Amino acid sequence: MCGIIGYIGNREAKPILLRGLESVLYRGYDSAGLSIRDEKNKTTHYYRSPGKLENLKKKLDPLSIGGTVGIAHTRWATHGIPSEENAHPHRDCHGKIHVVHNGVIENHAELKKQLIAEGHRFFGQTDTEIIPHLLEEEKKQNPTMNTRECLRRILSKMEGAFAIVVMDADGPDSLFLARKESPLLFSYNNEQNEFLISSDPGTFYLYPDIAQKVVAMPPETLVALGGGKIEITDFESKPQSPISVPMNETEEFAQKQGFPHFMAKEIFEQPKALRDTLSGRMISDIAGVKLGGLEQQKESILSKEKIFLIGCGTSFHASLVGKFLFEEFADMEAHAEIASLFRYRKLPLHPKRDLALFISQSGETADTLGCVTELKNKNILCLGLINRVGSTIARECGVGIYQRIGPEIGVASTKAFTAQIANLALLTLFFGQSKNMSLSDRTLFINTLNSLPDIIEKTINILDPQIKKLAEDYSKFTNFLFLGRKYNYPTAMEGALKLKEISYIHAEAYESGEMKHGPLAMITDQFPTFFLCPNDSVYAKNISNMQEIKARSGPVVAIATVGDTQVDTIADQVLYLPPIYEPLSPILYSIPLQLFAYYMAVLKGYNPDLPRNLAKSVTVQ
Ligand code: AGP
Repeated sequence: MCGIIGYIGNREAKPILLRGLESVLYRGYDSAGLSIRDEKNKTTHYYRSPGKLENLKKKLDPLSIGGTVGIAHTRWATHGIPSEENAHPHRDCHGKIHVVHNGVIENHAELKKQLIAEGHRFFGQTDTEIIPHLLEEEKKQNPTMNTRECLRRILSKMEGAFAIVVMDADGPDSLFLARKESPLLFSYNNEQNEFLISSDPGTFYLYPDIAQKVVAMPPETLVALGGGKIEITDFESKPQSPISVPMNETEEFAQKQGFPHFMAKEIFEQPKALRDTLSGRMISDIAGVKLGGLEQQKESILSKEKIFLIGCGTSFHASLVGKFLFEEFADMEAHAEIASLFRYRKLPLHPKRDLALFISQSGETADTLGCVTELKNKNILCLGLINRVGSTIARECGVGIYQRIGPEIGVASTKAFTAQIANLALLTLFFGQSKNMSLSDRTLFINTLNSLPDIIEKTINILDPQIKKLAEDYSKFTNFLFLGRKYNYPTAMEGALKLKEISYIHAEAYESGEMKHGPLAMITDQFPTFFLCPNDSVYAKNISNMQEIKARSGPVVAIATVGDTQVDTIADQVLYLPPIYEPLSPILYSIPLQLFAYYMAVLKGYNPDLPRNLAKSVTVQ
């Protein structure tokens, strides 16, 4: 999940590399570093810092660093603690070869042992550090071979996932890129004398003048940039074509727009995100929906009887909502699957009958991508529900729906979740039109989706101060339970995940009927419960579960429907939401939980955008 930046051109590399790192910071931020080649003075500047990017900037600010070629990296530790020794770039014995890497070299231990036996010295504990030494050894064995060819030869020795950028003093004004699984993109200007490299499409919005052409490296390829013609080849030197990456014109690089954190901005921009994701896609309750990305495979898609919805984390929670929607309204057998589990299951899959829908905001999640590869190899039709345009999963699926909600930078997913559910509702309508979904249901779906942005706009402004106060009242508790039934069980899971991942408070979610089968034993007056209890088909059951909690003195915060006069006789606090059509209620009911988690994190002095140990896009398995 690390972030990689590279630059070759005629400008000072330092500011471009540092600003580039900011654009990939959400992919990992426990240490950072950069190397800049100053060919004029025949020297390579090399700086690394543990902790936040600010620490590296503080080190570099007073320095005037020449040089117009460089690489930079922000790390999410996989091997070795966050420290200066483990920060990238890593170097060979002579400090001539510098490497940044994203991914995991699975056989690094045996390669390291061999290199130590050949006299190489290591200073860190990372898997990455073997790469410059492997390249150094290859060059030593083949003194007349150029860096690119030596790099090609070591790639087959490394098992696992990687995207690497190499800077070699012997290959000045060039950078060498190689990719196996982890994403790696580059752009250049029309004159092809300035290149920008990144592990993330968002970086290229920072420098449109160097992003006149943006391409992604195909899997298992390498290229030398800066030394003239761009020639991408595979690891056997066969020429390969770059994958053109459409830059979403409307996607300016995300700014906080006056909010204290990206997460706050993204919570409050959910009405806009829903309008954007729905625009032009709902024709009418009769004519149904228009999903352009599915048109080319519409017939094949609609012929399928079974659908596997696959994702991780929040995207898995959205999958669960989708499962309920497809079962109830599209007359389809639907399975919601956790990607890291699903790819190792031995399931009888049938290309004629089965369909896979991959849900991923980043489109780079390695566990999800692993499933795509697995199912494509089994000839299963794979659709993507993705936010990042041009991302790897979007490309691998080739067919699907882009969320079109703009970049989601906060590590905790918010607008992506609600937009995912809105798109799953559109997909239900898409399937429903050929599976006899009733006109009344179709009308309810479309009217609800049309009304949701305004409802959320009003509700969020009413609830915001109430939830900020609630966070203050509940900030002393160290355990929380989130309960919901049917459509709001995934909502409860999402609420628990939000609280865990940004405030680090322990939180669990349960289908509320499950409480009496064990978890109720945990309830005391020190163990509060958030109870999602809309006035819906399971309301009565929820009320009795709520009473069971109260009977054990458990504090209850209920999220209920405006006008409900019973719930406030049971719960300690009630947050009221407008009435909402049950199958789409997770879109509305997740928002108070997002806000609660956000305020709890801020109260505890944490940065909700960059929670510890996490990254926005988990590109390691
Ligand atoms: C959600 O808040 C987390 N950031 C995480 O669970 C995330 O949803 C998960 O890693 C999947 O990411 P994706 O949607 O980009 O594939």
